[in-house]
Amino acid sequence: MNNQTKILAVETSCDETSVSVIENGTNTLSNIVLSQIESHKRFGGVVPEVASRHHVEGMTTTIDEALKKAQVTMEDIDAVAVTQGPGLIGALLVGINAAKALAFAYDKPIIPVHHIAGHIYANHLEQPLQFPLMALIVSGGHTELIYMKDHLNFEVIGETRDDAVGEAYDKVARTIGLSYPGGPQIDKLAAEGKDRYDFPRVWLENDSYDFSFSGLKSAVINKLHNLRQKGEAIEAADVATSFQNSVVEVLVGKAMNACRAYDVQQLIVAGGVASNKGLRTHLTQACKDNDITLHIPSMKLCTDNAAMIGAAGHYLYQRGMQADMSLNGLSSIDIEAFTM
Ligand code: KG4
Ligand code: ZN
Repeated sequence: MNNQTKILAVETSCDETSVSVIENGTNTLSNIVLSQIESHKRFGGVVPEVASRHHVEGMTTTIDEALKKAQVTMEDIDAVAVTQGPGLIGALLVGINAAKALAFAYDKPIIPVHHIAGHIYANHLEQPLQFPLMALIVSGGHTELIYMKDHLNFEVIGETRDDAVGEAYDKVARTIGLSYPGGPQIDKLAAEGKDRYDFPRVWLENDSYDFSFSGLKSAVINKLHNLRQKGEAIEAADVATSFQNSVVEVLVGKAMNACRAYDVQQLIVAGGVASNKGLRTHLTQACKDNDITLHIPSMKLCTDNAAMIGAAGHYLYQRGMQADMSLNGLSSIDIEAFTM
């Protein structure tokens, strides 16, 4: 008799087709990730229609592979969790329809999961979340500070007013002439340059936990155009270092202010930009100085994957969250609606 809860999770919100089997919310039996990055590279970013088509092509084999790797069949699965949003609507719908088909065919409940809740719970797969905590979300679509009193208790205390941090990285990278996704390449270059362009640090009002990156992005782009017009050489590494220092200083500063104000001892970081080496180094030092425990998922759990959706889905399932066959994808959806 096996009384372990097994969740099959599906994630297709952007450009990764992923299916995972998670046991008891923490044990990853499989986490298959089919990346489409190579396909989108030539367009300089994710093309929604192309993403949806790739999800359709990859969905069935990814489900089969996840079950096989986990050495289970659909009969062993207790519930199917799926990313409801936010994300690209066409891409989300492919995952949601696959989840509905499985749930219908095998008579299993469907658990809708918020994508950012998934990013937060990626940490839980490596180390149990300890509450209260502060979560710094840094991805291609999101930059947020979320306070959590307990499991599934989300309070957004700050968010970006314009560009997400990953988006700013990708746009600056494109202006320097780097291919998509530019974030990791800027990060690499940033380790080699000098901070000599004095780009702005955007703090907004004194006590605000909100972010703004569009001004910084414009400052970098203007500087590059300016240098080009004057025929001056552009030191890509120096631009990368100056840009990254500006981003990291604000992210770390606001995260520390939030931890102090909310009196939390644990900071977790989530989303694709959490793999940024500059951010990791500076957060590590700042947390040490402020006596805060820092958790950042390993690289493979920072980017989009279904294991994180399964981890969050497990707790939602335990608390009775369920959808019916009318479940729809939502390109924009509030994480606080998933507080249970
Ligand atoms: O979380 P994610 O995989 O997808 C979204 O849900 O958005 O994040 C992707 C973003 C991209 O903008 C990518 O350039 C950025 O994360 N990224 C990085 C690094 N690795 C990925 N940005 C800065 N430094 C990195 N090392
Ligand atoms: Zn993501």
